[in-house]
Amino acid sequence: MDEGKTNSYEVITEGKAKLLVYKLESYRVKGSYVPALTPVFYNPIMRSNRDIMIAFLRTTLQRTTKELKYGETMTGVGVRCIRVLLETNTKPICEINDVNREAIKLAEKNLDINGVRDGVKTSCVDARVFSLMHLAPKDRFDYLDLDPFGSPAEFIESALLSVKHGGYVGVTATDTATLFGNNPTKTLLKYGVIADRLQFNKEFGVRALIASIVLTASKQEIGIRPVLAYSEKHYVRVYAKVLRGKKYAKESMLNLGFILHNVQENSWKTIRMEDVIRNNWEKDRNHKVIGPIWTSEYIDNELVKKMYINSFELSQESVEMILKIMNEKSGIVGYYDTDLTSKLLNVSSRKIQKLVDKIKERGYVATRTLYNPKGIKTDMPYYEFIKVYSELS
Ligand SMILES: C[S@@+](CC[C@H](N)C(=O)[O-])C[C@H]1O[C@@H](n2cnc3c(N)ncnc32)[C@H](O)[C@@H]1O
Repeated sequence: MDEGKTNSYEVITEGKAKLLVYKLESYRVKGSYVPALTPVFYNPIMRSNRDIMIAFLRTTLQRTTKELKYGETMTGVGVRCIRVLLETNTKPICEINDVNREAIKLAEKNLDINGVRDGVKTSCVDARVFSLMHLAPKDRFDYLDLDPFGSPAEFIESALLSVKHGGYVGVTATDTATLFGNNPTKTLLKYGVIADRLQFNKEFGVRALIASIVLTASKQEIGIRPVLAYSEKHYVRVYAKVLRGKKYAKESMLNLGFILHNVQENSWKTIRMEDVIRNNWEKDRNHKVIGPIWTSEYIDNELVKKMYINSFELSQESVEMILKIMNEKSGIVGYYDTDLTSKLLNVSSRKIQKLVDKIKERGYVATRTLYNPKGIKTDMPYYEFIKVYSELS
């Protein structure tokens, strides 16, 4: 860090951390702040991503007699590690890394400013090299964070290899256009998933990323159990438990499946991997096969309830997001976008709560979804949903 240029920096606060960052005001394009242009990346908009991580670690990283190990493959200004040390009561051994030397210098300075430098190991290598340096069982992490620019795909295999049995990975993806299926060729190349334009594209992106992690893990005889996954703003985030052994890899794989997308009707059904293996499925002419995706629950709602209790001193925005995640029914694949239904039927939009009540009256599950304020999650078939929709005024 060039001390002569201190007027390029400013001190900001996030949670309990005081951070020296490049002056945000100096990196605007057409009025918008562009963090990727700064010599060391810090994006204030991602505070909710980090807040939710703090609530997650407060809840899952229980202190035992053994020391806990926290790792960061891509630390930027060091904000996550500093917040973990100041805002969780676990005091893990921390190892942080970034390929950008400037970033590591600034992260070290920030660790000093916050009085938590002692015992934090820093390194400046490619994220894959950093992870593979922790391949040996005694060196593995209880929690490893992966927070790249864009896609995490190329870093996932090495990251999983550096996590203990029963430990967790937290993975961010900001290439949402690819994950949401805007360019199916890109989705296939990056994630090995066939995508399509679906009315529940954000949830599809979450399920596609989990599936891609499962496929990558399985090659290493590792299974993963997603415990919390969601999408907001411009990112998808997945927290998953890492379980070593063939039986866990198989268990994960059997939670994958495919969507049979009826393009004409804009409806879909889901087939599980086991049905595909047994050839126990039928496709009609209008169906496109989409996937593989994670077809099971991917939110442990009890865990998120505890996270909500542990969300003290976090931003209001993040607490609201945790509440939304807590209420999400991830066991149902997809949601109906009522705006699309209105357009299709050429009718005015219906009150969401009225619709939810009407669907429940007919004996189906119905809830709102965190992905779309106009969306409804239900196990009611689409043709019946359309009927209910047109009957309601
Ligand atoms: C999105 S930023 C990380 C932000 C940080 N985790 C936070 O919450 O503020 C991505 C970081 O990854 C670093 N990076 C990019 N490619 C890398 C690689 N191959 N190995 C390690 N670090 C890399 C960049 O220098 C940048 O600091």
